[in-house]
Amino acid sequence: MEKSFKAMVVSEAGNKQYRRAIVQRQIKDLPEGDVLVRVYYSSLNYKDALSASGNRGVTRKYPHTPGIDAAGVVEKSTDSTFQVGDEVIVTSYDLGMNTAGGFGQYIRVPAGWVVPLPDGLSLRQAMCYGTAGFTAALSILQLVNHGVLPEHGDILVSGATGGVGSIAVPILAKQGYTVVAVNGATDQSDYLKSIGAQRIISIEDAVDTSGRPMLAARWAGSVDVVGGDLLTTTIKSMNANGVVTTCGNIASPDLPINVFPFILRGVTLVGIDSQNCPMAVRQKAWDKLSREWQVTQIETVVEEITLDELDQRIGKMLTRGSKGRAIVNMQS
Ligand SMILES: NC(=O)c1ccc[n+]([C@@H]2O[C@H](COP(=O)([O-])OP(=O)(O)OC[C@H]3O[C@@H](n4cnc5c(N)ncnc54)[C@H](OP(=O)(O)O)[C@@H]3O)[C@@H](O)[C@H]2O)c1
Repeated sequence: MEKSFKAMVVSEAGNKQYRRAIVQRQIKDLPEGDVLVRVYYSSLNYKDALSASGNRGVTRKYPHTPGIDAAGVVEKSTDSTFQVGDEVIVTSYDLGMNTAGGFGQYIRVPAGWVVPLPDGLSLRQAMCYGTAGFTAALSILQLVNHGVLPEHGDILVSGATGGVGSIAVPILAKQGYTVVAVNGATDQSDYLKSIGAQRIISIEDAVDTSGRPMLAARWAGSVDVVGGDLLTTTIKSMNANGVVTTCGNIASPDLPINVFPFILRGVTLVGIDSQNCPMAVRQKAWDKLSREWQVTQIETVVEEITLDELDQRIGKMLTRGSKGRAIVNMQS
């Protein structure tokens, strides 16, 4: 008999409304692929919340199972790189976007999407980081690659209470950087300090809408997830030769700016794309997360939830009612 498993399925309910339900699915319903993985842990990222609420920019066709992150054990493989029983991580590419994702107890994917679980990480720990942590690691790798050193000055992290920010802050702090975190809509200063922020500023302090082309120099580096006016202000406020990474557009995709910060202060703006990141860089980032960038305060950042609790947590993320990261115990 064909094996069935539990998965969150998002379907259209009419009137542009979408319904999320936990249903039984069968392995034969999964897309073709080289590697069948039994998922032990997944995690919730902002993109999942968009997919789970009918965002057609993320997911074109419904019914659909979101989940851009999965960590589990290979149950079948037609590719000799992976053997039955191997512990693996699958994040991004098309997983959870238009390929049934990690909010199901099984996924089937191309071998090229699969990363062997690095030594030093459990499946659960891997999902504590997930795409958010991986993106934080890619951002910090870029700061390091561009020569930003702790002695150069303060590093600003926006969206610091969220998934990417909550991992970026402790990694930077552990590497000796002075981290200034932008607080979210509610006061989360105690939380931000507990994960390694040395100073906290409000969104109002981080955003200047005066239209001035340059602002007083404040930052040696920045990890930005917010975009819009906050990113624009950050770029205008960089020290000479400062480096800003941009990965998100949670406030806005717009970047109203002119070239002066780039040509008068030598500022560098680096784009971060975790989805199509080349495998060699992907493995390097996971390697860092499994070794010297392991976050000791990770349990402060992460809440473990069940598949049944996921619907509510998605709602909270969309209404700015969550902080840190949620990992989903897929076998609960
Ligand atoms: N390019 C990539 O590869 C990549 C990878 C991962 C994530 N991302 C993007 O990065 C962004 C963050 O993802 P996430 O998983 O960290 O999301 P998240 O967990 O929901 O965190 C979002 C953070 O942004 C803050 N925020 C929300 N709306 C804001 C606004 N209007 N102004 C200022 N701050 C605001 C939130 O603060 P509150 O406390 O006020 O809610 C929270 O700290 C998303 O746009 C996501 O798509 C991109």
